Amino acid sequence: HFDRHHSFWLFGYGSLIWKADFPFLERRPAWIRGWSRRFWQGSHDHRGTPEAPGRVVTLVREPGARCHGMAYRIRPDTLSALDLREKNGYLREKVELHLDGGGVEEGLIYLATADNAAFLGEAPLAVMADQIARASGPSGSNRDYLLNLARALAEQGVADPHIDALAAALPELA
Ligand code: BEZ
Repeated sequence: HFDRHHSFWLFGYGSLIWKADFPFLERRPAWIRGWSRRFWQGSHDHRGTPEAPGRVVTLVREPGARCHGMAYRIRPDTLSALDLREKNGYLREKVELHLDGGGVEEGLIYLATADNAAFLGEAPLAVMADQIARASGPSGSNRDYLLNLARALAEQGVADPHIDALAAALPELA
C-alpha cells in the first residue's frame, strides 16, 4: 500500500534540473513562490578551485517572484546520499511546491544563505560572467554549468532573466 511518508518532493533549481543522477519515483516541472535564483554561491569544490572559485546558484527571497525548476519525488534514503554531495554551505528548507499542471505539495530545497563561508553575493554582471567563464573544478567547467542550466530552463519553456543575462554576457576566452 502507498504510504506518503515513504517519499517526498525535492525541488531542484540548479544542477538538479539537468543532472538527476539519483533514483526518483517521479519527476515533474514545478515552481516555488517568493524566491529568485542567483549565481551568488561560491564553488571551490565542484565548479572551481580554492584559488579560482566558480559561481553556482542559490535562492534569495524576493516577494512575488517565482522560481521554476524540477521536482523529484524521492525516498528518504536517497536524500542521505545527496546530502553528502550538496553539503558545501547548503542547508535544507521546506517550501510550498506548485507542480506544473496543478497540485500543491510540501517540498524541500537546498539553500545557501549569506552566512555560509562560500557565499559570494552579488557582483556586476560582467564580473560574474568573467568569473564563470574562467572557473573549472572536479565537476567540470563553470561555463558548462551555466549553459546546461540555461538550456534546461529553455527546454522547459522557462525564461529566467538573471540566467539569460549571464549566459549572454559570457566572454569568449582566447
Ligand atoms: C539544486 O539544483 O537545487 C541544487 C543543487 C546543488 C546544491 C543545491 C541545490
